[in-house]
Amino acid sequence: MNRTKINWPDTLTEKTFKRKYWQKKPVLIRNLFPKEIATNSPVSKQDIIGLSKIESVPTKCVYKRKDWHVKHGPLTKKIVTNLRDANWTILVDKVNTQLSDADRFFHFFNFIDLFSLKDLMVSLSNNGGSVGPHYDSYDVFLVQGHGQKLWQLSSNFDPTLENNPDLKILKTFKAEEEFILNPGDTLYLPPNIAHNGISLKDDSITYSIGFKHPAILELTDKVLFYHMDNISSSQESSLKYFKIKTCRDPLDFSDEMINYFAEKIIKLMPSYEKIKKYVVKTITESDADVVNRIINKDIKFHNFLVHLNKKDIYINPAMKAVFWKDNLFYDGEELDLSALSEREYKVTKTLLKELIENRMIPSGTIIPYFKFKRALKIIFFLYRENLLTFEKLRSHEISHNL
Ligand SMILES: [Fe+2]
Repeated sequence: MNRTKINWPDTLTEKTFKRKYWQKKPVLIRNLFPKEIATNSPVSKQDIIGLSKIESVPTKCVYKRKDWHVKHGPLTKKIVTNLRDANWTILVDKVNTQLSDADRFFHFFNFIDLFSLKDLMVSLSNNGGSVGPHYDSYDVFLVQGHGQKLWQLSSNFDPTLENNPDLKILKTFKAEEEFILNPGDTLYLPPNIAHNGISLKDDSITYSIGFKHPAILELTDKVLFYHMDNISSSQESSLKYFKIKTCRDPLDFSDEMINYFAEKIIKLMPSYEKIKKYVVKTITESDADVVNRIINKDIKFHNFLVHLNKKDIYINPAMKAVFWKDNLFYDGEELDLSALSEREYKVTKTLLKELIENRMIPSGTIIPYFKFKRALKIIFFLYRENLLTFEKLRSHEISHNL
């Protein structure tokens, strides 16, 4: 896993990708990851099978005998054994929130902003396994891990679906182009491109990194929620109803009164700057159940420093965090760093940047910063909030943590 990273080919830089293909048209990027991804994978076959057995992990198995079928997780041993004579694909959702290595791999894609980075789905198929031709409403990178897969694409297609409410498989599909993906090869698809992936080998693993822009109505709802939470109830006492003329006619409502309300309400609306802050808070929100899965040992600050010396420290994989306007925003919260000196602030930012981008800091590498106690106290605070941890999340340990 350590050697895995994105390698843009000479023929396609990140900048060109964004300008020419992102949200526009599909592109196949050969060897975006090294071939070793097949053997040194962020999520192994055992991880996928292990996760699929856990009730709280969103999982399904799509298989075809004569017709298409779907079984929702948890997938028992009996279900998997019964699939032997079928072509099958096991799909596990949000794997980035379950395993530290998957979280790190997922964040290689943070060259596209956090606003749209959604989740990592991982699939495991036997030879011939597929989920059927379909189209999605979001952007996706399909990275081939272990095995080999044939991808067929079509941009002019009939969107009529087969009569199976559990699966959204296209009734007719005619491939316009096709590619065979080997370990490390990556196919980018913008929304609404029909695609059909067929595994050409047993134990084919595909990583699907999905993107979705937030729905503006949902975002507005959240922004107003944060705002209302911040409005002081003292606003009520500033109302001066006695100054308003009452209306004599019971069928009428005085203009003076309605204007008074409208003006007061307009004044309560968030400012442009506040809206921006609440948007940042909203996009860093994580699923509380998933974030709370990590419960750290209650240790003193000096013991924490001893641990930092000996152990790698990880960001909670379920946690989304960004640095915005000199402060740290995480899980809908803002950590104010304005009390730090310039040097302490720089150190804090360096450490947090490392944690947010690389998702971990290796043991011992924080030692040169030990003299900046106030910066390390911030890291300690995040540890006590269970947002950082010394426990790397691996699939065989998940069942204990749930
Ligand atoms: Fe898809």
